[in-house]
Amino acid sequence: MQKIILIGYMGSGKTTLGKKLALELKIPFIDSDAEIEKISGKSIAEIFAQDGEEAFRKLETEFIAGMQAESSFVLSTGGGMPCFNNNIDHLNHLGLTIYLKNSSENLADRLIEAKNERPLIHGKSKEELIEFIEINIQRREEYYNQAKLILQPDQQGIVNVYKLVHSF
Ligand code: S3P
Repeated sequence: MQKIILIGYMGSGKTTLGKKLALELKIPFIDSDAEIEKISGKSIAEIFAQDGEEAFRKLETEFIAGMQAESSFVLSTGGGMPCFNNNIDHLNHLGLTIYLKNSSENLADRLIEAKNERPLIHGKSKEELIEFIEINIQRREEYYNQAKLILQPDQQGIVNVYKLVHSF
């Protein structure tokens, strides 16, 4: 039984690594944002716009509760999920949490291309984005740093992560 949970800021590569890891481990890959979109019948942007962030955070917490019934998976979480409603405790209880740590500059480089589907950073310039990430990530690291494993950028290759997961 393997329950692996990838956490980290938007753009940190949770989905890309999660899909590879699930393939290697031959277990299902689950993306919390995609599941919440399916359950609610709305895109993440629509949930934020129509119901507000708090409603989205509630859906995230309900989603984690629903995951207790699943036996093996690699779960890629939305970037804010661990940082609200004691979710980091619930995620640590659920399985092996892994924080994919990244620098703000790196994240901004990646997110500049994909900011418009993400309501928290929609429409920001590169400079605004870097500033937002630096402030936001500082608050969030209080939660991210509670992960059972913290991986620096040079430790996030699939071969290394696969080995780590096996030895943990
Ligand atoms: C969010 C991250 C997004 C998504 C939502 C809010 C956040 O997920 O859940 O837009 O608060 O950091 P990704 O980390 O997959 O972009």
